[in-house]
Amino acid sequence: MEIVLATRNKKKIEEIKRITEGMAVTIFTLDDFPGCPEVEEDGTTFEENAIKKAVTVAEFTGKPSLADDSGLEVYALKRAPGTLSARYAGEGADDRKNVEKLLKEMHSVKERKARFVCCIALALNEYSVNAFFGYSDGDIGMEPRGLNGFGYDPVFYPAGYSKTFAEMSDKEKDLLSHRGRALEELKRNLAEKLKDR
Ligand code: IMP
Repeated sequence: MEIVLATRNKKKIEEIKRITEGMAVTIFTLDDFPGCPEVEEDGTTFEENAIKKAVTVAEFTGKPSLADDSGLEVYALKRAPGTLSARYAGEGADDRKNVEKLLKEMHSVKERKARFVCCIALALNEYSVNAFFGYSDGDIGMEPRGLNGFGYDPVFYPAGYSKTFAEMSDKEKDLLSHRGRALEELKRNLAEKLKDR
């Protein structure tokens, strides 16, 4: 099966390729389809955004498309930054600025529980779409630690671990991460689909 990944985020593309390795799928990216329309992530839920992206790309390319929408929910901040995770510190903000803003908002917050959420939508075409979810519970640290990963990884301690996602190897993170878990769900579903072909 050929699948187009509806993202330009290199780290996400790497993660998804790694996790789908060994399956009978050929992965394309948006770089293989110049002119594909950009999708505005204006939905209020991760699911809404992921479905919108996957359907737009499936319609444009005529191939099954996979889109993910993910983010960090901090309970003490009423689940912010949530679907705004990528632009928490403003439009065009980079990871460092977003993390800085988060730590500032949480300066005097003691209850630091949070979770990463990932919704992956697989659109076979505009009429057939499935959504898969993955979650990773943890705590927000007081300062950034580690150099791996991206986004909020340097301040996220997965539950039961005393190191951040940014201090873990790719393999370790994949086993615990929201994206890894959503992809495992997807993998099970794809295996069923490929069996029926
Ligand atoms: P989007 O899914 O491309 O809209 O981006 C979600 C944003 O959430 C990213 O830019 C990161 O800031 C954050 N995020 C999503 N997944 C992760 C992760 O695995 N580690 C760290 N930050 C993440």
